Amino acid sequence: MADEDVKLIDEKGIRLDGRRFDELRPISIEAGVLKRADGSAYLEWGENKVLAAVYGPREMHPRHAQNPSRAVVQARYNMAAFSVPDRKRPGPDRRSVEISKIMSEALEEIVFVEQFPRASIDVFVEVLEASAGTRCAALTAASVALADAGIPMSDIISSCAAGKIDGQIVLDLGKKEDNYGEADVPLGMVPSSGKITLLQMDGNLTLEEYKQVMELAMGACKKIYQLQRDALKRRYSTSLKNFEEMADDTEEV
Ligand code: CDP
Repeated sequence: MADEDVKLIDEKGIRLDGRRFDELRPISIEAGVLKRADGSAYLEWGENKVLAAVYGPREMHPRHAQNPSRAVVQARYNMAAFSVPDRKRPGPDRRSVEISKIMSEALEEIVFVEQFPRASIDVFVEVLEASAGTRCAALTAASVALADAGIPMSDIISSCAAGKIDGQIVLDLGKKEDNYGEADVPLGMVPSSGKITLLQMDGNLTLEEYKQVMELAMGACKKIYQLQRDALKRRYSTSLKNFEEMADDTEEV
């Protein structure tokens, strides 16, 4: 909620971390960082650091949770005890159960679940460092990890929040902006089709403000989509390079 004592944006429109209203924090994504997982991704977004691992499709346990007509996407969001300045008590809490649920529901929208009856597709996201916007970072990384695992899906989800601080609409709220701002709206969407797969709102906005928030967040999702695709392309070209090197080695023998 708004706090009169904390000034989040100055007269020139510059935010506490030097960004303008429509700027994202720096984002970097790497696909295929874990050997054992079927797919994985590591993402840094400002001061957030998240690791996503995908296993499956594999037989669902316990069996009574199986769906005979489709796969179940089970996402598990977890914040490491050392991810925030005050040690976070390990294990699931209401917040991580909620984020795991909304991530599972969002990802089930893109995976061709009907191709894998009775199976489970497990998506683990570990937040190593958290500084606001971790659900968007987690969903963005999870989508890349799913694609890296070769799971058949319609496209990837990109996610970003926008909101309101000191009466102004801004993109991608940082930690203080999240704490002392007036509204935060995390959005997840499939940029190629415009389909919205996650939408939440903390705080209050007028209809006009809501439209501005959506426009900003949707524009940012399109940029993030490009970064996700680039990460997957880099992963693919690296694999191809390794393959070519292996072929060269064989020829030399
Ligand atoms: O991370 P996100 O913005 O998606 O979710 P949030 O519930 O709005 O949390 C905002 C931020 O509060 C997190 O990113 C963490 O930096 C921080 N947080 C924390 O310090 N301790 C917790 N137990 C939970 C969140």
